[in-house]
Amino acid sequence: MNEHMTLGEFIIENQSAFQYSSGELSKLLNGLRLAAKMVNHEVNKAGLVDIIGGAGEVNVQGEDQQLLDVFANDKFIHSIIKRDIACGIVSEEEDEFISIAGSDKANKGKYVVLMDPLDGSSNIDVNVSVGTIFSIFRRVTPVGTPVQLEDFLQPGSLQVAAGYVVYGTSTMLVYTTGDGVNGFTLNPAIGSFYLSHANIQIPKTGNIYSVNEGNYSHFPQGVKDYIKYCQKEEENRPYSARYIGSMVSDFHRNMLKGGIYMYPNCTKNIDGKLRLLYEANPIAMLAEQAGGKASNGVQRILDIKPTEIHQRVPFFCGSSEMVDKLESFL
Ligand code: AHG
Ligand code: MN
Ligand code: MN
Repeated sequence: MNEHMTLGEFIIENQSAFQYSSGELSKLLNGLRLAAKMVNHEVNKAGLVDIIGGAGEVNVQGEDQQLLDVFANDKFIHSIIKRDIACGIVSEEEDEFISIAGSDKANKGKYVVLMDPLDGSSNIDVNVSVGTIFSIFRRVTPVGTPVQLEDFLQPGSLQVAAGYVVYGTSTMLVYTTGDGVNGFTLNPAIGSFYLSHANIQIPKTGNIYSVNEGNYSHFPQGVKDYIKYCQKEEENRPYSARYIGSMVSDFHRNMLKGGIYMYPNCTKNIDGKLRLLYEANPIAMLAEQAGGKASNGVQRILDIKPTEIHQRVPFFCGSSEMVDKLESFL
C-alpha cells in the first residue's frame, strides 16, 4: 500500500488532468469520501448498536428500507448538499429527485449525483459486505436555474465520474473520472484512505460467474445456455460460481480476479432488477475504464438513453471476453 498517497492528495493531484478542472468535482468527491467514512463507522458497529433491521418504511421500488439504508442515504445527501457543488441528487431511497438551490439560493451547482447509498442491504444483518454506488454528471440545463429531470436522464457515456465504496473485510473506495480506475483502502486507525490499487485492469477473461441461480428457471434461454456453458467440463471450465448478493462486492471481486456478473431480465422481473442510473451506469463506467465491458445483453449499458430515474435494466458486466461470449448466446 502506498502510505504516501492519500485519497485526498490523489484527488487534488489529478484535478488538473480532468477536462473541466475547476476544483469543484474534487470538492464533491471529497464530500463523498467523508460520507463514506461515516457510513463505514456505522456499518462497523452493526450488531453493537441498534442499527440493524428494518426502518418500517418501503421505498419507491417496493423494498423494505433498512435502518442503515436510511442512515447512509441521510449522510450522503447531507454531505453532498453541504459542498454547494451539486444542484441535484437522485437516490434509490428517494421517490423523486432532490433539487438543491445552494446556500445562496442561486442554483449555482454544475453537477448532479445519482446514488445507491447502501447496496446489498439484505446482507447487513448477517455481517456480509455491503456498498455505496455513485454516478456524477454535469447538468445539461443552464447553471442558475433549478435542476430538471433531463439533467438526470443522460446516457451513462456522459458520466464525468463514477465509483463505489465497499464496506468489506477492509473498506475501499474505488472511482474513475474517465482516466482509469483507482482503489483506495481505508486505514481505520488513522481514518484515511490510501492508494492501494493503482490503475486497476480487469483480466480479459476469468473463471468466475456470478448470478442468482435460484432464478434459473425464469431466465431467458440464452442466459440458461450460457450458464450451462460456464458449467461445462472443457478448456478452463467449469467456472466457479461466486454470488454474494451485494453487486458492489461481486463486481469488486470479479474486477480484480476476472469474471462475469449477471442480473438478467426474467419472467419475475421483465426489465431485470438493477437500476440503470445508480447501479448499472456507474459500475459500467468503472468496468470499461478498467478494460472490461457492460451490456444489457444486446446493447452497451453506457449508450442507453434513460427515460425514468428508477428504471431497471438487465445487466451483464465484467471481463470483456466473458461478456462477449455471453452476448453470443443471446
Ligand atoms: P439494494 O440492496 O441496493 O436493493 O441492491 C441489491 C441488489 C444487488 O446489489 C444485488 O446483486 C442484487 O440486488 C441481489 O438480488 P437477488 O437477491 O435477487 O439476487
Ligand atoms: Mn443496490
Ligand atoms: Mn440500495
